[in-house]
Amino acid sequence: MTAKHTLGEFIIDNQNQFEYSTGELSRLLNAIRLAAKTVNHEVNKAGLVDIIGATNQTNHSDEQQQKLDVLANQAFKNALINRDIVCGFASEEEDSFVSISSNNKTAQNNYVVLVDPLDGSSNIDTNVSVGTIFSIFRRVTSQDQPVEEKDFLQKGIYQVAAGYVLYGTSTMLVYTTGHGVNGFTLNPALGTFYLSHPNMKFPKEGHIYSINEGNYVHFPTGVKKYIKYCQEDNDNRPYTSRYIGSLVSDFHRNLINGGIYLYPPTSKHPKGKLRLLYECNPMAFLAEQAGGEASDGQQRVMEVDPYELHQRIPFYCGNKEMVRKVDSFINEN
Ligand code: AHG
Ligand code: MN
Ligand code: MN
Repeated sequence: MTAKHTLGEFIIDNQNQFEYSTGELSRLLNAIRLAAKTVNHEVNKAGLVDIIGATNQTNHSDEQQQKLDVLANQAFKNALINRDIVCGFASEEEDSFVSISSNNKTAQNNYVVLVDPLDGSSNIDTNVSVGTIFSIFRRVTSQDQPVEEKDFLQKGIYQVAAGYVLYGTSTMLVYTTGHGVNGFTLNPALGTFYLSHPNMKFPKEGHIYSINEGNYVHFPTGVKKYIKYCQEDNDNRPYTSRYIGSLVSDFHRNLINGGIYLYPPTSKHPKGKLRLLYECNPMAFLAEQAGGEASDGQQRVMEVDPYELHQRIPFYCGNKEMVRKVDSFINEN
């Protein structure tokens, strides 16, 4: 185990890796760290206070918002907006992006943040792990103007940082700034994240496939064939099937143990269910930085050119060989 580096120390020590090293991104990552602790505190109270269950509202994607979706969204929004460190915020739980003007006219902020504040929120009522996903870009429009939609509709390859928080048996924050992936575990007694998983990499071989197999009849032929391939008694197969229903948790397990996460198009979600900007791009960035891959079946996720904030895409992500295999089945003939 490495020396106990705290997340705060790690952010400062690695600040000079950034192309524009003014401390701005460090302040932003610190705000995310704070918001993660706030959400962790809320999630841990589920069952004790009245925060379990649905609101009577739906989000932009027509999904019923859970009370904790709203609380988590507010925690991230407050942490980012009140501290005057970002120029724009977009969230799975908001219809449109929020433009934030700085009080400091001489030093305008350059980063926009996109979040899935509570991923896997349907699991909250049953005490199953949930997460938060974030993605950070530099704005492309001029600093002296309010942000525009195009500041958010950037290809994933332009992300400067991305990560997730996993509220699981322990709470972890895992992130990348394009220099590998590092994981930090929260010591709840001290409220401090410590570096527990330095330089995370997918194991050489993966043996887990994670998919909602209940939708099997609706999957494209190539995906059906890949599932049968995973189940064949051959070489090192059959693989193990594991599906939690929280992308963050499924991804995290597969990153540590080796595997692939799949969310193909279905009749209910013909373009796929997961959101390109809040879920797929940040996970794809982490996957690639950990030696894995992410594809939508046709191309590298991070090269998909987004046309709307809440866009959905099919998502295949994990060990390189496994992603390439499913891609080859999808593109047969
Ligand atoms: P969210 O809770 O942010 O809406 O995301 C749920 C996503 C993802 O986390 C999960 O893997 C997937 O939806 C589960 O979908 P199914 O229930 O259709 O399998
Ligand atoms: Mn989600
Ligand atoms: Mn969500």
